[in-house]
Amino acid sequence: MPTLKQLTVEALSNLPMQGITSVGIDAEARAILREWMLTARNGGKAVQHSTPKEPQAAAATATPTHADVPQTVEEKLAWLREKAQGWKAARALGTLRDSMVFATGSPHAQLMLVGEAPGYEEELQQEPFVGPAGQKLTQILAAMGLQRAQVYISNICKFRPSMGPQQHTANRAPSDEEIAACLPIIQAEIRAIRPTCIICLGGTAARGLLGHAASVASQRGKWFETQGIPTRVTYHPSYLLRNDTISARRAVWEDMLAVMHKLGMTITEKQQNYFR
Ligand code: URA
Repeated sequence: MPTLKQLTVEALSNLPMQGITSVGIDAEARAILREWMLTARNGGKAVQHSTPKEPQAAAATATPTHADVPQTVEEKLAWLREKAQGWKAARALGTLRDSMVFATGSPHAQLMLVGEAPGYEEELQQEPFVGPAGQKLTQILAAMGLQRAQVYISNICKFRPSMGPQQHTANRAPSDEEIAACLPIIQAEIRAIRPTCIICLGGTAARGLLGHAASVASQRGKWFETQGIPTRVTYHPSYLLRNDTISARRAVWEDMLAVMHKLGMTITEKQQNYFR
């Protein structure tokens, strides 16, 4: 049975994940926190006081300092990466593999791309979208005039979904349960980065971020919002690998042109007319 102290520490540690970096506490709570801190400093033994301290003085020692709270986007992402590593909600399911694959690209990107989950190659290289689907994504970005390092690439699920002990290169999409378990992480990444525009790569990302169960075909070509940020749903690059048709490529490219427009990027005549 966890103690009140353990529950409090756990609850407070999870707050930054929800974007909350400060909490107001009353004098009694400050006094309790101070007591815990002094006990911890005293090797776990309760400290005897001759005179109770003023709550004001207690506040000065119990309140986290500025330096303790992640401030910059880089610090927030580093903190999130560490949290994701031991993310209990995901680990508790027992259906996801052990190693965590976080995200890649610029913390200051205007464009965030969200896929479904790492696969074999991503798990091996500890980076999202580095396998065949990743190569297709890199080509699409290049056609837009963007390099991977200029955008932020992440996944809705941070662990490769498990297919049992015999699993080698095969991959599977994450289940609704697995998506829900990892969702607070990508939501916190979005809060930290505040991109101008988000692309959901495939239906799994749209299901997680937007709560849409509809087909990609019925969602693409429109704008939605995630935390107030314009969000476009398009086909997953692996769909293009399976269906290398002009119409599928044109659909993705139309979505990318809309994204470029939203980002205020210059669109050349050649780019405008790729599929005309
Ligand atoms: N597919 C995804 O959705 N994400 C990856 O990182 C790789 C393949």
